[in-house]
Amino acid sequence: MIPEPYKIKTCEPIKLVEREEREQSLKKAHFNTFLLPAEKVYIDLVSDSGTGALSTNQWVNIISADESFAYQTSYFKLMEITKSIFPFKHIFIVHQGRMGEHILFKFLIKKGFYVLSNSLFETTRKNIKYYGGEGIDLPDELGNIDIEKLENFINKVGASKISFILLTLTNNSLGGWPVSFENIKSCNSLLSNYGIPLWFDASRFSENAWFIKEKELPKLSINQIIKKAFSYADGFLMSAKKSGLSSVGGLIGTNNDELIKKIKDFAIVVDGFTSHGGMSGRDIASMAQGLLESTDEDLLNFRIQQLRWFGNLFGKIPILKPTGGLGIYIKTKDFLSVEFPSMAFSNEVWLEGGVRGAPWGDYYRLAVPRRVYTNNHLQYTAEIVKKVFENREKIKDLKSIYPDKSGLGIFGAKFRLRKKLQPQITRIKRIKKKTISVKSV
Ligand code: F0G
Repeated sequence: MIPEPYKIKTCEPIKLVEREEREQSLKKAHFNTFLLPAEKVYIDLVSDSGTGALSTNQWVNIISADESFAYQTSYFKLMEITKSIFPFKHIFIVHQGRMGEHILFKFLIKKGFYVLSNSLFETTRKNIKYYGGEGIDLPDELGNIDIEKLENFINKVGASKISFILLTLTNNSLGGWPVSFENIKSCNSLLSNYGIPLWFDASRFSENAWFIKEKELPKLSINQIIKKAFSYADGFLMSAKKSGLSSVGGLIGTNNDELIKKIKDFAIVVDGFTSHGGMSGRDIASMAQGLLESTDEDLLNFRIQQLRWFGNLFGKIPILKPTGGLGIYIKTKDFLSVEFPSMAFSNEVWLEGGVRGAPWGDYYRLAVPRRVYTNNHLQYTAEIVKKVFENREKIKDLKSIYPDKSGLGIFGAKFRLRKKLQPQITRIKRIKKKTISVKSV
């Protein structure tokens, strides 16, 4: 295990409230851990988005940022930094990732068209649907897009019915696993036969580049890998709240002059003026510095090693392996035969130790914020999760009393406890062995 490549200058107290208070707040939150007030949470692993710690230089830039309405100083700084990282002529600011989706897709998606992906984030899928398209996930068993399935799908529906391919770097629906450089290249060469554009959801671009460096391009720097990998794409969109180490913000990148004009005209109506995307000058100053720091190899190396170390603490609990670039995904269905296994598990972990994770698709996800928690926090978390797992026969099932109406999952759903305990499956299904090897920490 390697130590953090930073020291801690500011600390924010956290407190484990009494069990009774945890029970009360869970009841008030309708047994949905998403709805718990953060103030009561001891260790919050509900998301790695916008939750990272800011660096000294980010704070310096926040304080000194100028707050003009148009073309403020931080805009030029952001353009300078982003253009040094991403090989695109136009970089456009939006206030967060999903706004970028909403703006971009207006011009890329037509009714009845498809967007194919290794796995789409749920807001991305919804924004595709909003414009009458359909998002289809075609992941292989490593989190890449399955090239054979992709080709078959294109041949089945016809290339003219496909708006673009969107590769999510890293795959948030599948373990935070990276998309390989090989996969990016194969995808690009297949698509060029059909004239279908390739886009990246680059929200976790720097961790993805770190994995490419480890497994495929060890001689290149992270910055060189990003430039090389992105040169295969027609454009990218991203939330800067993940790899970008920002509290808020997002980007769209393209070389297409016509497209950027349309984006500008629409964005000014729904998000903000061209130079700020609805954000303050200080938000942008922090985002620019965050993006600069996001490609720091020591920081990335520490993050991935910390995640791997964390993953190794779960012992026989079935998690998605290898540990990827954002957190731990527990396969609750493999050992709980209740209707809402991940939410029921999430509730129990909260009650046991004040740790907040959340259901994520088929899994219970513990997303690790950047530069926030020490190994001790994560060790404590793993111990709590293990305790809950060992007593899994006591986990109570939930009954849905109000479905989530956003269509994004169960973020706003409400539950109550079922009266009786559900019969449990205690046999753990064997985890499918992966064919790739992971260097031990
Ligand atoms: N794309 C990916 C791959 C994401 O993981 C997210 C957000 C978004 C787009 C949307 O970005 O939040 O800035 O609008 N993921 C968060 C998470 C919420 O917890 O995984 P946003």
